[in-house]
Amino acid sequence: PAVELFAQKLRIPPVLVRKYRKWGVDYYGVSMREGLAQILPGAKTPIWGYNGQFPGPTFKVEKNRPIKVIQKNKLDKELAVHLHGGNVPSSSDGLPGDEIQPGDTRTYFYPNAQQASTYWYHDHKHGLESFNSYMGLSGYYLLHDWREDRLDLPRGKYDVPLIIQDRFFNDDNSFRLPVPGEFAGDVTLVNGVAHPRFEVERRPYRFRLLNGSSMDGLVDLSLDNGAPLYVIGNDGGLLEKPVPVQHLPIAPSERYDVIVDFSKVALGAKIVLRNAVNFFGNRAEVMRFDVTKKAQGYVHPIPKKLVHLHRLDPKRASKHRTFDLRSNLEVGQMLINGKAFDPARIDIKPKLGATEIWTVRNTEAPELPIPHVFHTHLVQFHILDRDGKPPAAHEAGWKDSVTIEAGSSIRLIMRFGDFTGRYLYHCHLLGHADAGMMAQMEVVR
Ligand code: C2O
Repeated sequence: PAVELFAQKLRIPPVLVRKYRKWGVDYYGVSMREGLAQILPGAKTPIWGYNGQFPGPTFKVEKNRPIKVIQKNKLDKELAVHLHGGNVPSSSDGLPGDEIQPGDTRTYFYPNAQQASTYWYHDHKHGLESFNSYMGLSGYYLLHDWREDRLDLPRGKYDVPLIIQDRFFNDDNSFRLPVPGEFAGDVTLVNGVAHPRFEVERRPYRFRLLNGSSMDGLVDLSLDNGAPLYVIGNDGGLLEKPVPVQHLPIAPSERYDVIVDFSKVALGAKIVLRNAVNFFGNRAEVMRFDVTKKAQGYVHPIPKKLVHLHRLDPKRASKHRTFDLRSNLEVGQMLINGKAFDPARIDIKPKLGATEIWTVRNTEAPELPIPHVFHTHLVQFHILDRDGKPPAAHEAGWKDSVTIEAGSSIRLIMRFGDFTGRYLYHCHLLGHADAGMMAQMEVVR
């Protein structure tokens, strides 16, 4: 169906309320079940959602305040919940072998002993990740800390999560599953609403951008009034200072924390957030900001300095590893170092406490220049260089997902911190992970 632009208002996913607190741990309950979501005008769309919602409810949690999440599976399929970017024990990572059977529950433990940032949770049932998250199983996990709260960044209703996802629809407004050859949906959703509009005041807003696409929906965002996006944070926390950019590519699973300053635009202005990647039949207009009100109360200017980024010293690295990402189209598999994922195999064994440098190369053939989005569970990394050159200032912070174009090579540095056990690393174009581009590490003592 043709989708009318800006016909519906943006919705903000509700914040999940904790059930109780016991022995210093906050307990939350979530059930994964079917639901109906108002995505398009008219008929609602059947979805699978956390608490039957799409996107799922937002966790708002504090640094060093651990939580447990009791997840109940009310769908008739195996599911596994993964906290993307989470520094969590292996048993809470949603690994293959740790699925929740239909009707069962599983309790996940999230220590929250990591940097404040925009994290998210989604289904991780191997082989079905892209399908399950397409059906709606994803939501925000916002980790706050007092240091960040002291920075005078826009907060409260001016701190707005925006999850961007692509979908196809049938005429009855139900999700249509992609067919082979379709790489990204033709309708763009923001917080589960197709091409919405959002009324803003004349002031700066913080937008926590997340590309939550389940397929290959890369986006490249810009504002149609030419105003910059001030990037203040990456996947794993804030940058040292805001970095203004004119356009911002975001790959599936990447988060960019940005400030948009509407204080310089006239009341009544309508500013469109555009996506330059629109060869999938999708509209370039993602959503619209309608500047309808004066700023209420005192407005802090955008801080000049944010945090001190602790950088890992490459000289301290005790291990160098190389990973080749490449497809074998003859067998229809996508591979890391020539191998497809095997849950019974451990591919690498990093040592607890070790600093490692990983060279990750996209060695896809030039005839088929498929990009990959390399993602590590458990650890955040810094990009040392991309094809020998330092990363752009806006991607110089802590990250857990990074785009590697065909023919390119990047070097990442990371330190294996708090937990031993099994974790995954994979391409976060989830169709690629499902096709085998995933591997397993075991962090050992
Ligand atoms: Cu969001 Cu294994 O990933």
